[in-house]
Amino acid sequence: MNQDIARVIISEETLLHRVQEMGHEIAHAYADNPDGMTIVAVLSGAIIFLADLIRFLPMKLRVDLVTVSSYPGKTTRSVGPKLTNYSAVNVRDRDVLIVDDILDTGSTLSLVQAELTRSGPRSLRTAVLLRKPGKAPSGIEANFVGFDIEDEFVVGYGLDYDGMYRNLPYVGLLRSHLYE
Ligand code: XMP
Repeated sequence: MNQDIARVIISEETLLHRVQEMGHEIAHAYADNPDGMTIVAVLSGAIIFLADLIRFLPMKLRVDLVTVSSYPGKTTRSVGPKLTNYSAVNVRDRDVLIVDDILDTGSTLSLVQAELTRSGPRSLRTAVLLRKPGKAPSGIEANFVGFDIEDEFVVGYGLDYDGMYRNLPYVGLLRSHLYE
C-alpha cells in the first residue's frame, strides 16, 4: 500500500465487482432505448470509474466530458464548484447519464444537473461511484450509487488530493497529517 494511505476503504477487486454490477443495472435501465444513451462524465475525478463502467455497457453510447473543479490546490474544503468546458456538450433530446466520482455535499451534481436540464435532454439520470449519505440536501440524488462511505476525505480510483493519488487502484483514506 502507498505509504500516504492510512487505510484501504474499498479494494481493487471490490471496486471492479461493483462497477460491473452497476453496468448491469444501468444497461437494464436503458435496455428499451433504441437510441442508446449519452454519458456526461465529470472530470477529473470520474476518469477511472468512467473507463471501467463504459466497458460494461453494451449499448450504443456517446461520451461527453465536462470539467468541474471544487478543490484548488492543497485543501479538502470545497470552495464551490466551477464548470469550465461545457460548451461542446450536446444533450438535446438525448437520454443522458451523468457519471461522477462522488456525491458529497451535492453542489457539483446540482450544478451539472441544472446546466444539462437547461439544454433539454429527453431524460436525465445520475451515476456516482461513492456517496456520503446525509450530506447532500434532499432533491440532489443519484439514480445509481456504487458505495456509501463515511464522511472522510478519500483518494484513489480517480479521486485526488492536490492532483495526486488518482492512479491508486483502490479507494483509501489519506493520512491526516498530509492534508489541510
Ligand atoms: P460535492 O461536495 O460537490 O463534491 O458533492 C463533489 C466533488 O468534490 C470532490 N470530492 C472529493 N474528492 N475525496 C476526493 O478526492 C473526497 O472525499 C471528496 N469529496 C468530494 C470530487 O471531485 C467530487 O466530484
